Amino acid sequence: MAGLTENDALLESADAFARESLSENRYGHTLRVADTAESLARKHGLDPDRTRLAALLHDASRDTEPERFLRLAEEWDLPVDEPERESPKLLHGPVAAELARRELGVEDEEVLAAIRAHTVGAAGMGPLALALYVADKIEPARDYPSVGRIRGLAQENLREAAAESLRRVIDHNEGRGRPIHPASREMLEWLEQTENAAQRRM
Ligand SMILES: [Fe+2]
Ligand SMILES: [Fe+2]
Repeated sequence: MAGLTENDALLESADAFARESLSENRYGHTLRVADTAESLARKHGLDPDRTRLAALLHDASRDTEPERFLRLAEEWDLPVDEPERESPKLLHGPVAAELARRELGVEDEEVLAAIRAHTVGAAGMGPLALALYVADKIEPARDYPSVGRIRGLAQENLREAAAESLRRVIDHNEGRGRPIHPASREMLEWLEQTENAAQRRM
């Protein structure tokens, strides 16, 4: 049972860290994402504790000042491309992953990768990262036209739910002339390619 206790302690410190770092609203969102991600993990046979840990920390740096994101990214050698320079808050995932590692000693690469990729996505992400990606888009307070459909898909298949969410984000931003992060397009292509390959095998 020693493992369980250790997990509980880490989950508790992650919760406290999120609570201290975030506004009440964002902390509320964090808890809803944590519950949603944990329940998706149980549904799809993933580790509920590690998924919850990633969710508790995913937005932990969200209330950081834009200039500070760029400074921290430089200090910690995080990749910064054109989209991040234009909109430094896109760095809140990678910065939160670094904080998780530095402040809480999280070494679990799947957890860190999930935190890193939760905003714009990433081609080839693992199941835990997919659960967090989807949970962030469907937590109970999310309210947009296709959220019900994506919630339904998430119960069946996380990849399809993520693909549907990406199509929505891409359409929405294209419609408003807003830029789309290359990682989001790459993730959707990856999901659609593997979907098609699976259909060809049937
Ligand atoms: Fe976020
Ligand atoms: Fe979030």
